[in-house]
Amino acid sequence: MDKLLIQGGPRLNGDIKISGAKNAALPILCAGLLTSDTLQLSNVPHLQDVATMLKLLRQMGLGIEQDGENVTLNGAGVDKLEAPYDMVKTMRASILVLGPLLARFGEARVSLPGGCAIGSRPVDQHIKGLQAMGAEITIEAGYIHAKAKKLKGARIVTDMITVTGTENLLMAATLAEGETILDNAAREPEVTDLANLLVAMGANITGIGTDRLVIHGVERLHGASHKVIADRIETATFLCAVAATGGDVTLTNTRSDILDVALDKLREVGVILTSGPDWIRAQMSARPKAVSFRTTEYPGFPTDMQAQFMAVNCIAEGSSRVTETIFENRFMHVQEMNRLGAHISIDGHNAIINGVDKLVGAPVMATDLRASASLVIAAMAAQGETLIDRIYHLDRGYDRMEVKLSAVGANIQRIK
Ligand code: EPU
Repeated sequence: MDKLLIQGGPRLNGDIKISGAKNAALPILCAGLLTSDTLQLSNVPHLQDVATMLKLLRQMGLGIEQDGENVTLNGAGVDKLEAPYDMVKTMRASILVLGPLLARFGEARVSLPGGCAIGSRPVDQHIKGLQAMGAEITIEAGYIHAKAKKLKGARIVTDMITVTGTENLLMAATLAEGETILDNAAREPEVTDLANLLVAMGANITGIGTDRLVIHGVERLHGASHKVIADRIETATFLCAVAATGGDVTLTNTRSDILDVALDKLREVGVILTSGPDWIRAQMSARPKAVSFRTTEYPGFPTDMQAQFMAVNCIAEGSSRVTETIFENRFMHVQEMNRLGAHISIDGHNAIINGVDKLVGAPVMATDLRASASLVIAAMAAQGETLIDRIYHLDRGYDRMEVKLSAVGANIQRIK
C-alpha cells in the first residue's frame, strides 16, 4: 500500500493546474448511458474513482476511448443493466447508473451501497423519487431492482438536499413522459454542470442552478461535447495548503465564482486572494487566524472542505468551532491531527480547535478522501517528518496530489 512521506516546513511558490471536478465527472460519465450517440468529454480528471466508474460502464457495454483528459463515450452497445456489489462497495457514486439505465432501458439492478466511513449515507431518496415516477422497485439479495416500461413525470420533494439523488432523478426525468419537478434540489455547481451537459444532449431543463428543476421529458437524447467544470474542492484544498505553509501560489484552469464562501473564510484566515476568469492567486505571509464555520449545502460552506480548514485551524492563532451538519461521522481526521500535536476536542457535531504554535510530524493514517487531504496539509505545516498511510483514499479524488505539491516546493514523496 502506498504511503506519503512529508517533510514539513517549505513555503509553497509557483503555479498549479487544477483538474476537472471528480463530483461532476462521475455523473457526467453516467449520462453516457442515456444515449446511443457519442459524448465527447474533456477535462476529465485522472482519478481512481473515474477509473472505477469507467470500468463499471465498460462492463455495461458502454464504448469508451480515453486519451489523457479526453474521454469519448458511445452508448449504442449498452446491454448489461447491472452494477454489481464489488463495484458499488468500492465507490458509492456507482448508484448514479440507476436513473439513466431505468430511463433508457426500463430496468436496472444496482447493488445497495453498504456502510461508509463518513456516515450511513442511505439512498432512500433516490428510490423514493424513482417510485414517484412510476418505477416498481424491489430490494432483493442486497440489490435495488427497478423496472418501469416508461417513467412518468412527477413532482418530487426530497426530504433533504441530496447531490447524487438530485443527479439521478434529473437524469431519469430527461427521458420520462411529461413534466417532472424536482423541489429541494441540490444546487452544487457539479449538478449544474451535469444539467448543462444534458441540455446540450437535447434535454429540456429549466431552473438550472436553483432548488427547483423543471424537466420536460424528451423521446431521445443525442451526442454532445462538454468540458468538465473545475474541481472547486481540489482548488480550495491547495488554497488551504498555502494558508497553512505560507507562500505565493497561482491556481490555473479554475474559477473563483463557485467558491465564494470558502474564499471568504480564507480571507478571514489572512490569505490575500486575487483572481481572474480562470485563475486564483493566494499569498500568505503571516500565521493563519482561526475561523469558525458550519458545513451546509451549496452555496454554504462545503462539507468536503471541513477537514482541510480544520488543518489550518490547528496551527492558527486563536480558537475555533467547526460544526459538521451533512455527515454524522466526518471527524475521523481529528484523532490523527491530535497525534501531530493539535488540540481538538469533539462534542457531537462540533469540533473545538485551540490553535497551537506548532505541529510535530508523526506516522498517521488516512481514513477517507478529504481526511487524507487534511493530513497532507497538516504534515506540510508540521515540524519534522510525517508518514501518511492508506493514501489510496487520496488517489480516489486527487489527481497526483504529491506531484502537484512537489512542483511548488513541498517536500513530499510517495513510497511504494
Ligand atoms: N441522504 C439520505 N438519503 C438519501 C440521500 C442522502 O439520507 O437518499 C443524506 C446523506 O446520508 C447525507 C445527506 O443526505 O447525510 C447529504 O448526502 P448527499 O446525497 O448530498 O451526498 P452524496 O450525493 O452521496 C455527494 C458527493 C460527496 C459530498 C456530498 C455532500 C459525489 C459523488 N459525492 O455525495 O463527495 O460530500 O455530496 O456535498 O458527488 C467527496 O468528494 O469527498 C464526497 C464525499
